[in-house]
Order: sequence, then structure tokens, then C-alpha cells
Amino acid sequence: MRVVEVTAFGGPEVLSMARRPEPEAGQVPGKVRVRLKAAGITIADIRIRAGLYVDQMGDLRPPFVLGTDFAGRLLDPAPGPGGTLPAGTRVAGTVPWYTDLTGQGTYAEVIWADPEWLAPVPDDVDFTAAASVPLAALTAQHGIEQLDLPPGAVLLVTGASGVVGRFMVQLASAAGLRVIAVAYEGDESELKVLGAKECVPRGEPLEVLRQVREHVPDGVDGIFDGALLGTVAMAVLKDRGVFVSIAPDRVPVSERDIRVEFDRAMPDAVRLKGILEKVAERELITRVADVMPLEEAAEAHRRAESGHRPGRIVLMI
Ligand SMILES: NC(=O)c1ccc[n+]([C@@H]2O[C@H](COP(=O)([O-])OP(=O)(O)OC[C@H]3O[C@@H](n4cnc5c(N)ncnc54)[C@H](OP(=O)(O)O)[C@@H]3O)[C@@H](O)[C@H]2O)c1
Repeated sequence: MRVVEVTAFGGPEVLSMARRPEPEAGQVPGKVRVRLKAAGITIADIRIRAGLYVDQMGDLRPPFVLGTDFAGRLLDPAPGPGGTLPAGTRVAGTVPWYTDLTGQGTYAEVIWADPEWLAPVPDDVDFTAAASVPLAALTAQHGIEQLDLPPGAVLLVTGASGVVGRFMVQLASAAGLRVIAVAYEGDESELKVLGAKECVPRGEPLEVLRQVREHVPDGVDGIFDGALLGTVAMAVLKDRGVFVSIAPDRVPVSERDIRVEFDRAMPDAVRLKGILEKVAERELITRVADVMPLEEAAEAHRRAESGHRPGRIVLMI
């Protein structure tokens, strides 16, 4: 089968098409095969390719296959939320690449997937849209539960233009929170449609925080830190507020009785099924910035690294 391998740590040019044997039924107990139609490119893929996570990768070294998010069709029946999903079912999900460390990611025609990490895709959602959802939406959904703020509370979402941030803006707005979004300036009108009450342009952190204070002089009740600002953002958080971080190295030390949480996407097929149903109902909007063929993975990484993108770049397989 066709895969894209990382041949060495480095720039996008280290991504190269290769052929690997296609997985055969029953080789990996507890996992099922999925024939992929689409794979999302995440920022973690880019950091792994560049060698920035090498100290968290055990003995795994190039060549390996990148990729976490996917959409495709089951080749094997899989236990699913509400009963067995037959072979042929359209599914989307995540390969937890940096905890599994098998080096067998989703830039490939066929993958092994854990049934806990996938869910059926409603007919109204196409494969490329579905592949933009799983990891980011699971992270945001888990994050809104960790925030646990009452309706009317003020939530600051940093990195609100990002894929995780956009989902958080929508979930928080649906939960009745007043959302202040720190975002790429050109995305303001879109983020307001998604549910942000106010937007502050991204930029130098102290200037961003000064502008946040103009909206809420007493500070915010919660922060969801999609841009990984970390400790510096605590300055606008009220005493006894809540801070949710999504990067283990950007978790601030608690102060002033602030509750600090680390949000990591968890395997939860029921939760993912609900998210994909909301996408089908247009209760949750996802945005695909670019769709490119698998063969152009290197160019897709170049684009992803070149600056602001309004949504996920997705590889079509
Ligand atoms: N813990 C978990 O399980 C988990 C799961 C998924 C993702 N993550 C992490 O969450 C982060 C966001 O992921 P993503 O998929 O949403 O990535 P993304 O789409 O690239 O979004 C990141 C966003 O942050 C913005 N940003 C970067 N630096 C900023 C700054 N200094 N001030 C304000 N905004 C800034 C970017 O703005 P521009 O668009 O203008 O560049 C971008 O919109 C990544 O670091 C990722 O590794 C964690």
C-alpha cells in the first residue's frame, strides 16, 4: 500500500512516498483495519517530523509514518457505540500516535485503529470534513467539561482561530458562556458567527491581555489556552478561576486558588459519535482549509507551516 514516510527528522522535504505491506485481518488483537479516504494534518505531526518530540518517542526513529486523524471505511467489523459496526461502515477517528508510538500513522491507505478511538460518520458529513474533527473536537469537548463553568461565566479562548480553539468557542457559546476569543484578526467575523462575544487580535501577549482587560476589567472566570500562552495569561484570570492547558509543558503553577487542569484528548467512541452527529446537524461547524492528495504531503506540511490557515489541511487518500 502507499504511505508517506518521514525518512529523517527535518523539513517537509523529508516526507517521501513509500510502499509498505497492507495490514492483514487479525494481525493486531483488539484493533480493526480501516481503509482511509482522508487524513488530517495536525501541528503535532509537524513537530514530530521536525524532531521536536524526539525525547518523548522512546526508541522510535525514522523511517516511520505520521498522522493521527483519519476518515475512511472499516475493513473489519468493529465494536461500536450502540452495537457492532459492520465492515464497510464510514468511520472517523484518531490514532494516538505519540502514546502508541508504533510509527504507523494515518498518512497511509490502510491503518490499524482502536475501536475506542473511532465512531461512525453520518451520511451528511464527507470524508475530508470528518478527518478534520476527531482529535481537536475530542480535546475541546474534554476541555469544556474540565472548565465546568456556569452559564454567564466569562471564558477566554486563546488560539481561537485554530482547529481546537474553534471547537471550544462553539462548545462554550452553546453552554451559555461569554466567550472572548484571542484570534487572527481576519477571522473575527467568522468567530462571532461561531459564538464569540468579543475578539482580541492575537499578538504580543502583554498587549493581548491589556485588550482583554478593556472588555473585562475584573478579569475572566476561565481560560482555555489553545495558543499555549501558559503562565503569562494567568494575569487576567480571577482568583479561584480555572485554567485549562492543552500542552504538558505549558501548564502554569496554581496561584490564588486557581484550578489548573491539563486537557488531553481521551478515547471515547460515544463522545466522538455525538460530536460527528452535531457536525452533521451543523450544530458544530468544522472547516477544512485545503484538501491535497497524499502524494503532496510535503507541500501540505509547507502550507501548514507557512502561517495562518483557517482550518485543517487534509490529505485525500
Ligand atoms: N492535549 C491534547 O490532547 C491536544 C490535542 C490536540 C491539539 N493539542 C495542541 O493544541 C494546540 C492547538 O492545536 P490546533 O490543532 O488547534 O492547532 P492550530 O490549528 O495550528 O491552532 C493553533 C492556533 O494558535 C494560534 N496561535 C499560535 N500562537 C499564538 C499566539 N502567540 N497568540 C495567539 N494565538 C496564537 C494560531 O494562530 P494563527 O492561525 O494565526 O497562526 C492558531 O490559530 C497545539 O499546540 C496542539 O499540539 C493538544
